[in-house]
Amino acid sequence: MATVSLPPLRVGLIGCGGIAGNHLAGYRLVEEADLVACCDIAPEKAREFAARAGISDACSDYREFLARGDIDMVDICAIDEVHAEIAVAALKAGKHALIEKPFAMSVAEGEEIISAARESGCRAMCAQSLRWHPRWRAIKQAIDSGRIGTPVYARYSGPSSPFWRPEQIDAYRDRPPEWLLIHNGMHSFDLMTWLLGSLPVRVHARSHPGQEWLPVHEYVSCVTRFASGAIAHTEENRIMPPPRYPLGNEIYLVGTAGTIDATDRLTHFGDITAADGYSLLAPGSSYALTDPDMPFACEIREFARAVLADEEVPIPLETSLGVLKAVLAGAESLRTGEAVSIDA
Ligand SMILES: NC(=O)c1ccc[n+]([C@@H]2O[C@H](COP(=O)([O-])OP(=O)(O)OC[C@H]3O[C@@H](n4cnc5c(N)ncnc54)[C@H](O)[C@@H]3O)[C@@H](O)[C@H]2O)c1
Repeated sequence: MATVSLPPLRVGLIGCGGIAGNHLAGYRLVEEADLVACCDIAPEKAREFAARAGISDACSDYREFLARGDIDMVDICAIDEVHAEIAVAALKAGKHALIEKPFAMSVAEGEEIISAARESGCRAMCAQSLRWHPRWRAIKQAIDSGRIGTPVYARYSGPSSPFWRPEQIDAYRDRPPEWLLIHNGMHSFDLMTWLLGSLPVRVHARSHPGQEWLPVHEYVSCVTRFASGAIAHTEENRIMPPPRYPLGNEIYLVGTAGTIDATDRLTHFGDITAADGYSLLAPGSSYALTDPDMPFACEIREFARAVLADEEVPIPLETSLGVLKAVLAGAESLRTGEAVSIDA
């Protein structure tokens, strides 16, 4: 990528909840983008975040950003359901948009974002922080270097944190039963798409409906076929864990010339073994928010660099649309019990 020496992008962040804190840590480490303003529909959250970020500019209606000439980019960290509406409005107003996952909730919304980006000439990207995680980067590099040959099978388990706090359960209220798959599946399906180097074409999903008081399915298992012919088995898992249940992610990936077997459950390392005996201990899952290469800093930096250099963003919207289609196909499969093919 070309080196740029342009002034940093001036960023307005929208949605000052949990993940906005990680983005804030990212902006502190990135030279290419300055956080200058923030917005939350809850004014006290916007004010509190602005104080934490050391900025004086806080509002409760994102439309205020869009009319301003001193904001180049919006960073959309609000709840899933408003991502597309805000992204389309921002792009039409000539602002670049980094959009938290899921960047849209339907194929029509995703296509509208793509059209708005094309028509405005602005850049937009679905933020998929796992792609910049040191552990997944190491695994991706091993695959790209050809050490395991062509990947043909992946098993991924994402037992993300259970509902420790009441507000985490609140996030799942008033949402459809398959929301866990749409919300968290964007991570696992994007990861599989990236590691296998191919888009999903068919999904078959099954779920565990969850506790009586829990409005969403707490466990979803998907078998997905990719255009390359590779198969992935992915799990979204928020099952109430018994005491000492080991949390963490697991991946087992088979290629034509080797395997990757990685878990961060207890050991925090992984093994990549190829026919030539090559082996790599992949980094564990933890990182410091002050590390210049922490995922959110890398994600913001690489997006901002692409915008400043007028180059394609690291994750094209079309790829994220393919991932979204797979997640939605999974949701349909949960409803019908049948495997669902994805339109190209
Ligand atoms: N990349 C990751 O690893 C990761 C991790 C967690 C969350 N996320 C994504 O980030 C987004 C936010 O998640 P969170 O955990 O921070 O949620 P959160 O509920 O803590 O924060 C969301 C905030 O958006 C605000 N909001 C809602 N509607 C708004 C609107 N119209 N305009 C302005 N603000 C509005 C809410 O008041 C709230 O403060 C979600 O889409 C989620 O999928 C990504």
